[in-house]
Amino acid sequence: FFKQKTAYEIHERLVGSEMCIRDRNNIEEIASYIVSDGKGILAADESNPTCGKRFDTIGVENIESNRRDYREMLFRASGLKQNIGGVILFDETLRQDAKDGTPLIDIMNAAGALPGIKVDKGLVPISEGSDEVITQGLDGLNDRLKEYAAIGAKFTKWRAVIKIGNDMPTDQCIDGNADALAEYAKLAQNNGLVPIVEPEILMDGGHTIEQSFNASSRALASLFKSLKSKGVNLKGVLLKPSMVTPGSEATLKASIEDVASMTLKSLKENVPAEVPGITFLSGGQTEVEATQHLDAMNKMGGFSWKLSFSYGRALQAGALKAWSGDAGNIFIAQDILSHRAKMNNLAAQGEWSIDQEEEF
Ligand code: 13P
Repeated sequence: FFKQKTAYEIHERLVGSEMCIRDRNNIEEIASYIVSDGKGILAADESNPTCGKRFDTIGVENIESNRRDYREMLFRASGLKQNIGGVILFDETLRQDAKDGTPLIDIMNAAGALPGIKVDKGLVPISEGSDEVITQGLDGLNDRLKEYAAIGAKFTKWRAVIKIGNDMPTDQCIDGNADALAEYAKLAQNNGLVPIVEPEILMDGGHTIEQSFNASSRALASLFKSLKSKGVNLKGVLLKPSMVTPGSEATLKASIEDVASMTLKSLKENVPAEVPGITFLSGGQTEVEATQHLDAMNKMGGFSWKLSFSYGRALQAGALKAWSGDAGNIFIAQDILSHRAKMNNLAAQGEWSIDQEEEF
C-alpha cells in the first residue's frame, strides 16, 4: 500500500503545474518514476502511415477518428495503472481529445502514466544510394520541444535505425546516428524533458546472434561516448535498445537464455551504471517471447539499472486484433492489453512465469 501511495504521490508532483521544468532533479525523477516498481512504457507513437499498416491488418480505415478511438481504448484500459509509467505518443495523439472531450493525456495521467512524444522526423539515406539510414529532425527541434513541454509531455523519443548486412553497419552510420541522438538528448534535457535514446538494430535479415551482438555493442559504445562528450546527464536518460537476437530469417535460432545472456553482456559492457532504466523495444518478437526474454534477464540480475519494456507491437498486437474497429469489443481488447502490461510488469521484476499466461 505505502509503495503504491508513494508512486502516486511522485506522479502527482511530476504533473503538477508549479514544477520548475528546468530543474535537473526533475528529469532524473521522471526517468526513475517511469521504470519504478516494474513499470514500463506503452509505445503508441506509430506515425499515421504506420498506424495505417496496423489498421490494414484488421480492415479498419486509417482516419483520425479511428486512430482516436483505438488509442482511447488503449489508454482507458485498467491495466495501465501500476504497470505503465509512460506512454509514447505521436504528435496527433498528444493534441487529441477522447470522444467525450477529455484530452487523451489527461486519461493517461489519471492512470499514473506520463505522456511522452516521438520527436524525430524519420529516416533518410546516410548518403546517396546507401542502404543505411540516418534519423532526421534536429532542425527546429528546440522550438518543438518547448511546445511539447507546454502541452504536457514529460519525456521524448528519438529512434535511430541500424541495419546488419554486407559491410553494414558502417562506422559512419553508427557514429552519425549516435551524434544525432546525443544532440537531441541534450536539447530535450535543456527543455526539462527526459530523452529516450533508441538505437534499434533491425531484426530483418539472416544474420547470426553474434553479428547482432557486435552491432549492438558498437552502437552502444558510440552512443555513450557521444552522450558524455555533449554533457548529457545520464541519470536523466532512458535507453531503448533492441535485444540481441539472430535475424528474423536466420537459420540458427537462439534459446531464451542465449538471447538474455548475450543482451545482458552487451549492455553490461557498454551502459554506464548511472543510467536509471533500460526499456527494450520488441522489434518483431511475439508478445510472449518479448516478456520471456525480459523476465530471463531480470532473473539473471547483476546490474544496477532497471531493466524494463517499451513495447509497441508486443503490447498492442492482441488488443488490436480483438478490437478490430468494433466498439463492442472494447472491453475484451482492454483486458488483453491489461494482461500484457501486467505480465511485462512481472517480467521487469523477474517474477513472471508461463502459468500466469495460462491463468488468463
Ligand atoms: P516495437 O516494440 O513494436 O518494436 O515498437 C517500439 C518502438 O517504439 C519502435 O520505435
